Amino acid sequence: MEASAYLQPITKTEQGLDPQDWAELRELGHRMVDDVIDHLATVNERPAWQEMPAEVRRRFQSDLPVDGEGAEKAYRDFQQYVLPYAEGNLHPRFWAWVIGAGSGFGMLADMLAAGINPNLGSGDHAPALVERQVIDWMKQALGFPARSSGLLVTGASMANIIGLAVARHVKAGIDVKENGLFASPARMMFYGSDETHNSVVKGLQLLGFGKQSFCPIEVRIDFKIEIAALRDAIRRHKAEGLKPLGVIGNAGTVNTGAVDDLAALADLCAEHDLWFHIDGAIGAPLAISAKLRPMLRGMERADSLAFDLHKWMQMPYDVGCVLVRDEAQHREAFSEGAGYLSRMPRGLCSGERWFSDYGPELSRGFRALKVWMCLKQHGLRKYGELFEQNTEQAGCLAGLVESSRELELITRGELNIVCFRYRGRVCDEQALNALNRELLMRLQEQGIAAPSVAILGGRFAIRVSICNHRSRREDFDLFVREVVRIGREIEKSAA
Ligand SMILES: Cc1ncc(COP(=O)(O)O)c(C=O)c1O
Repeated sequence: MEASAYLQPITKTEQGLDPQDWAELRELGHRMVDDVIDHLATVNERPAWQEMPAEVRRRFQSDLPVDGEGAEKAYRDFQQYVLPYAEGNLHPRFWAWVIGAGSGFGMLADMLAAGINPNLGSGDHAPALVERQVIDWMKQALGFPARSSGLLVTGASMANIIGLAVARHVKAGIDVKENGLFASPARMMFYGSDETHNSVVKGLQLLGFGKQSFCPIEVRIDFKIEIAALRDAIRRHKAEGLKPLGVIGNAGTVNTGAVDDLAALADLCAEHDLWFHIDGAIGAPLAISAKLRPMLRGMERADSLAFDLHKWMQMPYDVGCVLVRDEAQHREAFSEGAGYLSRMPRGLCSGERWFSDYGPELSRGFRALKVWMCLKQHGLRKYGELFEQNTEQAGCLAGLVESSRELELITRGELNIVCFRYRGRVCDEQALNALNRELLMRLQEQGIAAPSVAILGGRFAIRVSICNHRSRREDFDLFVREVVRIGREIEKSAA
């Protein structure tokens, strides 16, 4: 074809997505910021959670908007149908799972990140340097060596996968990148307590090991891994011809916040030449507090460490982090050349180390900015103080539970998680489980508080996990009063 054949005139008016009138966008933007700050500032005047009416639920089944309805309408829909029925984790009495409360400044930082919209997969631009600096700060805060590497990810689930993938690359004894796991003559095994988070098992499944490659080890009465049982399992598996590859230590289990004896696990891994990965989703950042740090002794010896910044560090969702002791091993496990990603000595494609060489994703958002700006805003010390505040509040709640004749404390871990149940005069275990289940739902439906569930030794427990910088002493007083009130109501109606 003649080159001139491509030189067709453009017949339509060219268009883009920018507004015709920037002043209109500016006005709407200012209004949005005002509205959301009002929403944050008045959060404790609203219920901790509220059920979404069926009419609102139906709104989410409306047709795909082929022709646009405009920014004003889109924003109105957000205000009417999304904002009032969000998860509830801004509220001071939201204590479900392990969910952070975010912050206003973090939200603004996220807006700026979206405003400049860089892709953190490649390049050596300022946003990449921000992420690198955040990772350096995390190494420093958690006692990892300066030469180790890291990556910001969606959360600890992905951070666990990355740590385990590096373990596979380094310890499998076969070229997994080239040949997959088929070349292995023996099943490879990982070990962790039976309280280990299910993201670890999911990660092992994704990595091709299969669920059978995870050997759950029993825990002691304090929910920490039984080291002797772990030692036995490793010995037994070796004798049976299996290949032990790594151990997952817990720095804060999801049910009770238990921290394994990490130093003992590090010793055992060194003795058997195993990879030592720590799931520190909840507890790793506690190293920031000099008071809480001693319980994490041994964490600094991990080969890889996964933790979250959107949980107890209160960064807006989503952001977690993985650190890997040996940078070269981390890079080798993930780097895969591609001509169009060639590095240049100068210009936009410069810089030897791109983040896409350290994880499975190429395109990545600028989640580092909120961490960088919030750390600059508050300083590390403030976070340490908030961790201490929440662990003290957990102690206070446990005390309130113990001082009530109608409540039974089930666990009060070292950290921020308290599990308890209403007992009243009920003796039958099944009836108690049913009563507490109903009680939990009523607490949420009545907008009083939003704790979640733990099943401990077959007992249904109300699980309160306090990683919330907005909770205050009065919130726990009110909560316990309301638990007793609703518990009595249910007990009476069942009698
Ligand atoms: C101990 C533990 N590990 C891993 C995870 C997964 O973290 P994320 O939800 O950030 O992926 C959680 C989540 O609660 C957790 O508690």
